[in-house]
Amino acid sequence: MTQSYTHILMEAPVDGVQLIRLNRPQARNALTSSLLLELATALEAIAVDDSIGAVVITGGDKVFAAGADLKEMADLDMVGVLNDARPAIWRRIYQFPKPLIAAVNGFALGGGCELAMHADIIIAGDNAQFGQPEINLGIIPGAGGTQRLIRTVGKSLAMKLVLSGEFIGAEEARQSGLVAEVTIPEMTIERALKLAKTIAKKPPLAVKQAKDVLLKAFETDLDAGLQYERKAFTVLSGTEDRNEGINAFLEKRKPHYRGR
Ligand code: CAA
Repeated sequence: MTQSYTHILMEAPVDGVQLIRLNRPQARNALTSSLLLELATALEAIAVDDSIGAVVITGGDKVFAAGADLKEMADLDMVGVLNDARPAIWRRIYQFPKPLIAAVNGFALGGGCELAMHADIIIAGDNAQFGQPEINLGIIPGAGGTQRLIRTVGKSLAMKLVLSGEFIGAEEARQSGLVAEVTIPEMTIERALKLAKTIAKKPPLAVKQAKDVLLKAFETDLDAGLQYERKAFTVLSGTEDRNEGINAFLEKRKPHYRGR
């Protein structure tokens, strides 16, 4: 990858996995629009890079991300917010078609929590704190926090977080379905990378379809979702990887997937 970035660090991909670190420690990884733009650009480059099968995104040891950059936000009046490029950038991040795993240590607040929720899987250190404190600022979450939280943790907890601004810890986040696994903070990135490497070895067309179909469940009723699933299942039956997977099983050998 030749493009260079200022606000994110791209670590050399290993075993088909790209690690992206948010890199504004002096501002607790507050999400400026230029940081978000770099992230969207990086993910779009990875989306068409066949050598990368999954991505881990992480922040710092004590703060994953402190939310939207409030210094930047303070300068926006209503028309500025109306014309803000950020919603379109968030959409680009959400549309990343490969698995995205967030490795969260410390605070994931406001847009930081929303960024973690843009990931497909969250692995949290036991020091992680998730919250939507926008209410303390006279605003509400603006990058999907209300919608994704309620679909992920249910009404009562989502209401509590958004209306009170209180945080929840890693274990409560796991119990509520926001987080997939909790580990010691020293292992958060390692565990996320291991999981990403496992996923990156799976047949990539099936992985992409699985992500796409699972996310559809957020947006559709059950019947439409089931039809969408069946269509994707049918499409996969025409792939070489599907034949390879089934033949390898029957021939008692390891499959060799080519993404075709
Ligand atoms: N935006 C801009 N700068 C931020 C920031 C943010 N969201 N969060 C922290 N910073 C800056 C501080 O202003 C401070 O800068 P200076 O050194 O220039 O004074 C620096 O980062 C260090 O901050 P703290 O001293 O507060 O760091 P801490 O380690 O003691 O605390 C924290 C960390 C708990 C994350 C705390 O910084 C905090 O609560 N931040 C704000 C969290 C917040 O309210 N987020 C919601 C933002 S709104 C939003 O996200 C809307 C949306 O839906 C997209």
